[in-house]
Amino acid sequence: MRQRKSLHPLDGAFQMARPALLAVGFFSLCINLLMLTSPLYMLQVYDRVLVSRSLDTLLLLSVVALGALIVFGMLEAVRARVLVRVGARFDRGLADTVFATVMQSGAGAQPFRDLETIRTFITGRSLIALFDAPWTPIYIALVYFLHPWLGHVALFGAVILLVIVQVNETATRRPLKESAGEIALANQFVEAGSRNRDTVQAMGMLPGLSKVWHHWHDAGLTLQALASDRGGIIAGAAKFIRVGVQVAILGMGAYLAINEITSAGVMIAASIITGRALAPVEAAITGWRSFIQARESRLRLHDHLARSLDAGDPMQLPEPIGELVFDNVFACPPGSQRPVLSGINFRLDPGTSIGLTGPSAAGKSSLARLMVGVWVPMAGEVRLDGAELGQWSPSILGPSIGYLSQDVELFPGSVAQNIARFGDINADAVVDAAQLAGAHETIVQLEDGYETSIGPGGTNLSGGQRQRIGLARAFYGRPALIVLDEPTSNLDAVGEGAVRAAVDALKNTGSTVVLIAHRPSLVDGVDSMMVVQDGKLTHFGPTAEVMPKITRRPSSVVSTIGAPE
Ligand SMILES: Nc1ncnc2c1ncn2[C@@H]1O[C@H](COP(=O)(O)OP(=O)(O)OP(=O)(O)O)[C@@H](O)[C@H]1O
Ligand SMILES: [Mg+2]
Repeated sequence: MRQRKSLHPLDGAFQMARPALLAVGFFSLCINLLMLTSPLYMLQVYDRVLVSRSLDTLLLLSVVALGALIVFGMLEAVRARVLVRVGARFDRGLADTVFATVMQSGAGAQPFRDLETIRTFITGRSLIALFDAPWTPIYIALVYFLHPWLGHVALFGAVILLVIVQVNETATRRPLKESAGEIALANQFVEAGSRNRDTVQAMGMLPGLSKVWHHWHDAGLTLQALASDRGGIIAGAAKFIRVGVQVAILGMGAYLAINEITSAGVMIAASIITGRALAPVEAAITGWRSFIQARESRLRLHDHLARSLDAGDPMQLPEPIGELVFDNVFACPPGSQRPVLSGINFRLDPGTSIGLTGPSAAGKSSLARLMVGVWVPMAGEVRLDGAELGQWSPSILGPSIGYLSQDVELFPGSVAQNIARFGDINADAVVDAAQLAGAHETIVQLEDGYETSIGPGGTNLSGGQRQRIGLARAFYGRPALIVLDEPTSNLDAVGEGAVRAAVDALKNTGSTVVLIAHRPSLVDGVDSMMVVQDGKLTHFGPTAEVMPKITRRPSSVVSTIGAPE
């Protein structure tokens, strides 16, 4: 039942920009026509004014030329303004989608940097050169019209410059692409380091981290320098060719004028037109780097969005009641080919509590991520109320799921905002969730109660407070399916008791609650038990049946997961 998105958002954004770009094309047409003002003026001055010595004609020509140049300047300014707005609109049109997909995929800030690179390209000089490029052949045709020999010289120059463009592409493409990769790695390193600065500081990891970061950063810079060196030589050669061709035109024009084949005005006009004809080609060479970077960014962003949005259009389904089915599920962590869970089958009834236990690295957290749709199975299906998780619209699925990950992360904002998941705050539901989580007392003791603002990463709270608020966030609105991954790892006995009570309370109001714990002791009050070992579901059934099996055979599970107290 999956439908593919009809249009990739990046293509959509380019399509939105098309009318404005057509307008820019129209401005470019006018600008390039007005560009002919000075060669025409020269032609007239040399061939008419200087011959007739008429000052009136000179004055008239000058006034007309001045008027044309004023319009020309204004159009240039308007064209630049339009492009700035196209860039901003392009960015705004995609920013929300990119933000959402970055949040979902954990891709870091790279997609944003790519978006910025594309926007900068749209507003920069290089794109304008692209708009002027179609005029190169027209200008060369004009030079041919002035005299074929002059046309030959101009054409020769253009061909040589095009060859140089190609050489430039070959010489700089690889180092530019590789340097972008190395710099991206260095940036990822910085992001990870600043997220975990406590660990870095406490254990004096700075020199070691700095060495590794330096390696990537340096490699990126070296490659960039290599590309710039090559680009610099090539740009120099291009400038030499363009100016050289203009001089050659003057020389050839002089020769033709001396032999009275053409006038002196033709010589000057042909030189100006040739310069203009070759300018976009030369600009393409100097602007090549931003062009390549924009192209790479476009590809990367395209891929990122395609991957993140591949799940297809969600269907509008009624709110789930919490029946969760795993049908022969195999799963690999994102970006890996190694299955960490295989052949998982089970059905969880709505309004029941389930304990999930097993040794470290058995795959409990992975199973939790599959249950809440953070991971997508490689094979098999995860269905909530009969519909695959990917088919649910996020706006319905999100509020119907409560998830406490093993590493609780809170966001900068107030306690209430965090519990209400940064949506519209329903005060009653916030307090209900906090009470269930045993967090209400701690919260009201905070400086500003529910309005206390949480710093980045929740660093102004204790580990236990963070976990309690994380629990409250999972309980907010009493979702149909609640998955708690090691919810008591930072809690004292009172907190553990609160979690047990909350599981019962939530179960009684119809939620399906999955409780993950190393130690079977936390989960001995639940309705049924699951045991995962080495990526496989080894036991699943009523607690009364499963618990004796896993506690009686010390050689298998108990030795690794600990006996109940
Ligand atoms: N994002 C990931 N990328 C690569 N491998 C992963 C990822 N997450 C988990 N794994 C691997 O999957 C296996 C199961 O990990 P998982 O976190 O599910 O274990 P767990 O049962 O929750 O362990 P613990 O009790 O220590 O939390 C491990 O071998 C781990 O290396
Ligand atoms: Mg885990």
